[in-house]
Amino acid sequence: MAQRSDIVVIGGGIIGLAVARRLCLSGSAVTVLEQHRTGRGASWAAAGMLAPHCEFDEADDPYFVLCRTGLERYAGFIDALREETGCSIDYNSTGMIYPALSDRGQARLETRYDRHRRDGVPVERLTVREARRLEPNLSNRIHMALRYPADHQVENRDVVTALARSVRLHGGVVREGVTARKIVLDGLRVAGVDTTDGLWNAKTVVIAMGCRARYLDGVSPAHRIPVRPVRGQILALRAGAVPPFRHTIFTSEVYLVPRSDGRLIVGATVEEAGFRNEVTLGGVLRLFRGALELAPGLESCPLESTWSGLRPVARDGWPVLGATGTPGLFAATGHGRNGILLAPLTGDLIAEAILHDKVPTVMRPFLPDRFYPAGTGETKDDRNR
Ligand code: GLY
Repeated sequence: MAQRSDIVVIGGGIIGLAVARRLCLSGSAVTVLEQHRTGRGASWAAAGMLAPHCEFDEADDPYFVLCRTGLERYAGFIDALREETGCSIDYNSTGMIYPALSDRGQARLETRYDRHRRDGVPVERLTVREARRLEPNLSNRIHMALRYPADHQVENRDVVTALARSVRLHGGVVREGVTARKIVLDGLRVAGVDTTDGLWNAKTVVIAMGCRARYLDGVSPAHRIPVRPVRGQILALRAGAVPPFRHTIFTSEVYLVPRSDGRLIVGATVEEAGFRNEVTLGGVLRLFRGALELAPGLESCPLESTWSGLRPVARDGWPVLGATGTPGLFAATGHGRNGILLAPLTGDLIAEAILHDKVPTVMRPFLPDRFYPAGTGETKDDRNR
């Protein structure tokens, strides 16, 4: 017999769970269908940086504005999740340090500093001495550094665990091991989802399947979401009882994220490898080299583990958020390097779109119709972010 739900969310990663929680809080009957285990895909693989100021050069980029809005909501979101679930969530608001390792890197950071100051981005310029006073384990070969005090980081695995609990506590259904096969239509409208566990009737369906979003059958070819996987390899060092850094250390090549459990996360490669979700010798080598260049003292740290994940990246590099051209079908994917950061905001935005038929200004550039042949949205060149 068919099962039914007001809303079905396909995908139990951080985005699907954040959307589901938000809809549950508004009183909707929500079911999350997860092919494997909740939160064990890209959401588990991530390093949890909440770092729009480090990640973006330009403050007038709409994607930066989206990410900064996401960051503004994060601390409140974590407080609410802790309160709702009793889960502990490792959250670090010390900030991030972005060092330059060459003359060219320094020139780039000096330009960035001037531009960010002009645009009101919170940033500090540090001499080598100042940077090493804050973080003595940084290499003495750095040229200078920028400090971004408003960038944070969170243990993403804590967040997805708490989110799944919150959805259930608020009456949502979370089904693991159920694969969505096909969107079922009634005329032009969504009527449900055909799954490996039978049919789910639902008038509203959210596609939050990460990098697999384009492969859902039943969606009109014109409305498919053009996302692809971009692999990130990552590793954890066992750094000891005292974390080697208080800040997250960020460069465009590698980042070092200190966890309060004594691990130091070293991430991440950015690779076009299709769906090959695997760790390679070359990938790990690049991470080792990058980490040691930033902090030679890490040489003696035991290697704890390595893993990889597949970021969902849209054709133009921007998230894909909101109503698709198929009535009742919504997209929430394509978050690329910023899925952990954007999860709470995505939950709010998709809930606004579903429950109130609203497109908040910050979401407008990210509507799926920008990809449609005769869409009303802006069509952009590939940005390859
Ligand atoms: N958030 C950084 C990354 O995806 O590697």
